[in-house]
Amino acid sequence: MIALDHVSRRFRRADGQIVQALDDVSVTIAPGEFVCLVGPSGCGKSTLLQLVAGLLEPSGGSVNVAGQVVRGPAPERGMVFQRDSVFPWLRVIDNVQYGPRCRGMKRAARLALAQQYLERVGLAHVARAWPRELSGGMLKRVAVAMVFANGAEVLLLDEPFGALDYVTRHQLHDVLLDLWEESRARTGRRTVLFVTHDVDECLVLADRILVFRAGRLVDDFPVAAPRPRTADSLLLADMVAHRHRLLAHLGLERAAPRAIAGAAAQ
Ligand SMILES: Nc1ncnc2c1ncn2[C@@H]1O[C@H](COP(=O)(O)OP(=O)(O)OP(=O)(O)O)[C@@H](O)[C@H]1O
Ligand SMILES: [Mg+2]
Repeated sequence: MIALDHVSRRFRRADGQIVQALDDVSVTIAPGEFVCLVGPSGCGKSTLLQLVAGLLEPSGGSVNVAGQVVRGPAPERGMVFQRDSVFPWLRVIDNVQYGPRCRGMKRAARLALAQQYLERVGLAHVARAWPRELSGGMLKRVAVAMVFANGAEVLLLDEPFGALDYVTRHQLHDVLLDLWEESRARTGRRTVLFVTHDVDECLVLADRILVFRAGRLVDDFPVAAPRPRTADSLLLADMVAHRHRLLAHLGLERAAPRAIAGAAAQ
């Protein structure tokens, strides 16, 4: 579904300094995969998402989605940014039907679709509200309803729930996974790239984890634990090993060196 072939991206900062945000990254992602991207701040995760979204061009290599070279943004690739994914000048329901409207869907059909997705994210009661009247968690629900209503086949989520409290974030994981699994069962696809700094979020959501450091892809491994995953899933031996592996990558693992050695050997 998504193929990056020797992708590099450089930026020139205002002071003239060249930054190598991504350096020779090659990876292939299958249709329907839920992939989490992790790595320290500044390692190139948002740059990679923007390249797949078509908001940036690579300096070298190529980015392909569904067999086509990415040449710009397209409705098949929906993005949720860390902030400001909702139009403040549109009511909630009009935000959700914005994408379908742009695609030319008839009024009655797109209204029904928007209502259906608002119900799915638990916001049917605020359909006529303005975004400024909603909490941060509710706005994220609107953003999730928007990308699903839009019918995007590739969802690019850049730390979408980063600023939320623990409970709201877990509720949103359930909403996202329900919608993703349902549409995957229906269409056999709907691929997700999800950027996060949160190790547990990664382990609950991902089929596969890509770890980046200084613009390079340094690890790539599957998370095979069955779904639905709960807090108890994180206690499974495999999950504990994955967590050690991720913490070591993030430079946070100081204790239990044997566990790190065991995980690294996998
Ligand atoms: N438009 C830009 N102009 C100049 N440098 C940029 C630009 N966008 C990103 N960079 C640089 O590229 C590098 C990678 O940035 P990127 O935003 O991809 O990191 P990230 O992994 O998403 O970090 P974070 O976890 O903090 O969001 C950083 O050094 C950043 O300063
Ligand atoms: Mg980022």
